[in-house]
Order: sequence, then C-alpha cells, then structure tokens
Amino acid sequence: MKRRSNSLKFHHIWKRKLFAMLLCFSCFTILLLVESQYSPIQMLTFVSPPTIAKPKIACLFIARNRIPLDMVWDAFFRGDEENRFSIYVHSRPGFLLNKATTRSPYFLNRQINDSIQVDWGEASMIQAERILLQNALMHPLNERFIFLSDSCIPLYNFSYVYDYIMSTNTSFVDSFADTKEGRYNPKMGPVIPVDNWRKGSQWVVLTRKHVETIVQDDSVFPMFQWHCKKRSLPEFWRETALPADASKEHNCIPDEHYVQTLLAQKGLEGEITRRSLTHSSWDLSSSKDPERRGWHPLTYKLADSSPMLIQSIKDIDNIYYETEYRREWCTSKGKPSKCFLFARKFTRPAALRLLNTSVLGISSEATSRA
Ligand SMILES: *[C@@H]1O[C@H](CO)[C@@H](O)[C@H](O)[C@H]1NC(C)=O
Ligand SMILES: *[C@@H]1O[C@H](CO)[C@@H](O)[C@H](O)[C@H]1NC(C)=O
Ligand SMILES: *[C@@H]1O[C@H](CO)[C@@H](O)[C@H](O)[C@H]1NC(C)=O
Ligand SMILES: *[C@@H]1O[C@H](CO)[C@@H](O)[C@H](O)[C@H]1NC(C)=O
Repeated sequence: MKRRSNSLKFHHIWKRKLFAMLLCFSCFTILLLVESQYSPIQMLTFVSPPTIAKPKIACLFIARNRIPLDMVWDAFFRGDEENRFSIYVHSRPGFLLNKATTRSPYFLNRQINDSIQVDWGEASMIQAERILLQNALMHPLNERFIFLSDSCIPLYNFSYVYDYIMSTNTSFVDSFADTKEGRYNPKMGPVIPVDNWRKGSQWVVLTRKHVETIVQDDSVFPMFQWHCKKRSLPEFWRETALPADASKEHNCIPDEHYVQTLLAQKGLEGEITRRSLTHSSWDLSSSKDPERRGWHPLTYKLADSSPMLIQSIKDIDNIYYETEYRREWCTSKGKPSKCFLFARKFTRPAALRLLNTSVLGISSEATSRA
C-alpha cells in the first residue's frame, strides 16, 4: 500500500515536471513566434528596452556645391534629441564641405567621398543617387532613406516627420504608368517591358529593403545608361527651331523614371505608398505649349515665401493625378493626414525668412542661436 502510494506520488511528481517542461517549451515557442514578427532592431528593444539605439532616417542631400539652406536644416535636426537621423551629402567632386562652406556642424564630415559629376537629365543623376544609397546602407541603423534637394525645406519639426515616415513600412514613391509617347525607348524592351515603364518624382522616401534592391540592380540601370536620355532643354527650344527629327529623339528623364520603373520591374509596387512627400509647384502659366509646360518647378524667392504660402501647402490633404484620373486622399496610420512633409524650391533668403516665422515649427531656437 505504502509502496503503491509512493509510486503514485512519484508518478504525480513526474507528471508535474513534464507539465512544467511542456509549459516552458510552449512559452519559448510563443516568444520565438512573437519575436519573429519584429525586425531585428525591435527584437533587441524587446530584450533590453532602455539602451538600444533607435532606427534612423538617412537624409540624402543632392547638392551642386554647398547646402544653401543648411541653417534651416540645422534647426530641424536640432529638434531631435534621440539621434534618429544621419546625413549624407553628394556635392560635385572637388567641392569641400567644411567650416568655410557651412555654418551647420551637422553637415561637417558628412560629404561622401566618391561623388561624381552630375549632368541634369543624364543617367549620372541616378548614379549619384545610387552612390548616396550605397554609403547610407553601410550604417545598419538606417531604416528609411530620403532624397532631398539643395532647395528643399522641411515643413514640420523632426519628431513629426520621423513619426509620419516610420508609421508605415512602405516607401513613398509617386509612380504612374507613363504612356507619353517618346519617353519609353523600345530598345529597352528585352529587359524592361513597356508595361513596367513608370514615371514619378525624384524626391522619394525609401525603405531599407527597396534601397538594397536599387543598390544591387545590375539590369535596369544599364538600360537607363544606354537608352534613357533627355532631349535638348525646352528653354533652348524657345530660341532655336526644333531639330527636324526631334519627334524621333527619345526624351527620357532618368531620375523621374528609374526608381519607379525598377520597383515595378521587381514586383515591389505593393510595398509603396504612391505619392511623394515633397511638394513642388509647377509653373503652368509660363508656356502655352503643353509639351513645354511643367518642365521646371517654380522657385520661391524672398517676396513669395510668406507663411500663408507654406500654410497652403501644409493644408493639402489630397492629390489629383491628371493622367490617371486618380485622386489620392492622403492618410497616415489609417487616418486622413497632410500630404507633404517637405517643399521646394526655395532660395536662401526665402528659406531664412520662413525660419524666422513659426510656420515651419522649428524657428525659435534657430534664430536665437544664429
Ligand atoms: C571613403 O569613405 C569610406 C566610408 O565612409 C571609407 O571607408 C573610405 O576609406 C574613404 N575613402 C577615401 C579615399 O577617403
Ligand atoms: C511637432 O509638430 C507637431 C505638428 O505640428 C506638433 O503637434 C508637435 O507638438 C511638435 N513637437 C515638438 C516636439 O515640437
Ligand atoms: C517591414 O518590411 C520588411 C520587408 O518587407 C520586413 O522584413 C519587416 O519585417 C517589416 N517590418 C515590420 C515592422 O512590419
Ligand atoms: C527676423 O525677425 C526679427 C524680429 O522678429 C527681425 O528683426 C529680423 O529682421 C528678421 N529677419 C529676417 C531675415 O526676416
């Protein structure tokens, strides 16, 4: 009897141990499953919350020489206390960004050392973009990559911009099927079928995954180098007669097609939000010829750059895409939102005037320091 109860007891303990083991095992499995839902960075956060570095936004400046609006960006970056950004500048080879050419410490030592000569409308522009992306990819914490021009300003403070961009796991790429005759060169056909031909803005925000795709691309980029060339600039057309065979020349603007077409080509369009976060005003009035119209964005000078202008850009909450009869209502985190976080083109006096007002949400400190 005693023996039996002993064995029963033993049986009982053994069962309890097994149960505990199973429980432990399933906890571990659940933990693994939960963790696999998160990126490596979030996994680390899961393990040790307070010390881990936050993912960064890489700001990629494409400049001719200096960054004329550096003091506006200086005020913008100063608004971040958590080291959530990194800066890369592509200026022409030979130009040196140093204490003599920028007053903002954020830009010192941020110039990439393998820049190339960029010619407007040539494939060298997309090559410069790829070089910037390659450099920024080396930093493992860079999770989003923004192209910024030297005439571009932020419309909000850093936290707002960061949260907006990070709230979705998509790239922001304005992209539409480009049916305009003469821009697609059928010689690309074997590699890039016309169905994958896209157009959009150069000023995109990319996820790390899409940046890796661009940097690794060795099929679409060579097609652009060989078969995507701009026709002579429209300004020159005004003075000289159109070349007799102009209609046969292909008029392709590489940087307005490359990222869009590559993402279509790789079947990644499901991972983009199809709009640009950078506002440009197109000059629709200066030319009656639809072929020439809208070639260059307006540049805002000192007299044009009022807080009202900025407020009117900030108020935009939908975009109409003429060629597709498509109206995009802007959303963020599933709620209606502002469409634009950045705007161009601004001269230096215009941007400094805006910095002096409160409309960009980054002004007060900046003026007191300067
Ligand atoms: C250029 O920069 C890269 C990375 O920042 C560095 O590894 C390399 O040594 C630099 N090259 C030159 C020639 O300074
Ligand atoms: C940043 O801007 C947003 C939107 O304008 C505002 O609600 C928020 O208070 C600002 N945050 C900081 C830290 O200034
Ligand atoms: C974001 O997307 C990438 C690639 O599509 C994926 O690997 C990653 O797990 C996603 N992260 C989150 C937080 O959804
Ligand atoms: C900035 O504002 C101050 C005072 O509000 C004014 O004295 C100064 O002229 C302004 N600067 C510019 C560039 O508008």
